[in-house]
Amino acid sequence: MDDLRIKYIDAIAAAADEAALEELRLQAVGKKGEVSLKMRELGKMTPEERQVAGPALNALKNEINSALAAKKVALADAALDARLATEWLDVTLPARNRRVGTIHPISQVTEEVTAIFADMGFSVAEGPQIETDWYNFDALNIPGHHPARAEMDTFYTHRAEGDERPPHVLRTHTSPVQIRSMEKTGAPIRIICPGRVYRADYDQTHTPMFHQVEGLALGRDISMANLKWVLEEFFSAFFGTEVKTRFRASHFPFTEPSAEVDIQCSWEGGTVKVGEGDDWLEVLGSGMVHPKVLEAGGIDPNEYQGFAFGIGIDRLAMLKYGIPDLRAFFDSDLRWLRHYGFASLDQPTLHGGLNR
Ligand code: DAH
Repeated sequence: MDDLRIKYIDAIAAAADEAALEELRLQAVGKKGEVSLKMRELGKMTPEERQVAGPALNALKNEINSALAAKKVALADAALDARLATEWLDVTLPARNRRVGTIHPISQVTEEVTAIFADMGFSVAEGPQIETDWYNFDALNIPGHHPARAEMDTFYTHRAEGDERPPHVLRTHTSPVQIRSMEKTGAPIRIICPGRVYRADYDQTHTPMFHQVEGLALGRDISMANLKWVLEEFFSAFFGTEVKTRFRASHFPFTEPSAEVDIQCSWEGGTVKVGEGDDWLEVLGSGMVHPKVLEAGGIDPNEYQGFAFGIGIDRLAMLKYGIPDLRAFFDSDLRWLRHYGFASLDQPTLHGGLNR
C-alpha cells in the first residue's frame, strides 16, 4: 500500500494537464484501478486481516481522490494565470480618437428646403432616378423631335439587342415626379420633390449628377401671384434675409406662361451676396402648368390649374454657404467634408434658425 501511495501521489503532483490527471484517476481508483482491485481482495481475507486492510485502503482511496481534486484546481489556476499574463488590458489608457462624420451640405440644404416648404403646406414626393422617356419627356409636353431632348444631354440606358422599345433614361430633371404625383393623388395637390438628376456635363458649375427640387401646387384658382409669394417667402426664409425676386418671361414646354426667376444679389468684393445690391442671379425655372401636362397626369385642365418650379439644390448650397466649386461636392475629400459639413445634431428647423 505504501508503494501505491508513493507511486500515485508523486505522479499526481507531476501531472502536466487535466488529461494526464484523468488517466491517473482511472489507473488508481477507476473501476479497474489498482486501488479498486485491492479492495475487491478484501473479501478473501480473514476478518482480522480485513479489519486492518479495509480502513487503510479506504484512507488511501480518499487520499488519492483529494490529491486529484487539489491538483485539478492547481492546474486550472495555473492556466488562468497564464492567460492573465498574456491577455491583459490597461483600462486606464485614454480611448482612441474617433472622428465623427458630418452632414453633407447637399443633405443639409435639402433638409432646410423641406422644412421651409413643409411650413407652407407642401409634402415631399419622390420618383425613380431611372425613368421612362414618357415620364421624363412626353408627359411633360416634350415630344420626340423637341430640341429640349437634345439640349438636356441625356444619359440613356441600353436595351437588349432586338428590343425596339425606347430606352429608359437617367432622369434629367425632377419634373417627371410631377406626373407621377398627379397620377397618384390627383388634384388638389401641393408637393415638393427633391432628388438626384443626371446630365452629361462637367465643368466648374456642372457635374453629371446634381440635385433639384421640384415644386407643384394645383387647385381651382392657384395663380402666378401665389407662385411669386411662395418663392419670395421661400428665399427669404432660406437666406435669412428679405430677398427680392425678378420674373423674366421664358419658355419651358411644360409651363405656359413660363418664367425664369432671378434673386437679388451683389457682387461687391468679388463674392456674391444674396439679398443686397442691385444685380440679379438666375436660380430657377417656373410657370403655370401646361394643360397638356395636367392631362398627361390625369387631371382635367378645365377644373384645375396651378404652378410648378424647379430649383437647383447644389446652386443654393453654393450660394448660401460660399462654396466656390461644384465638382468638390462629389469628390468625397475628407478635408472638404470636414470643412463644409454640418454637425449631425444641427438639424435645420424654422424655429431654431436654418443657418447655424
Ligand atoms: N425641369 C426644368 C429643368 O430642369 C426646370 C423647371 C422649369 C421645372 C420650369 C419646372 C418648371 O417645374 O415649371 O431645367
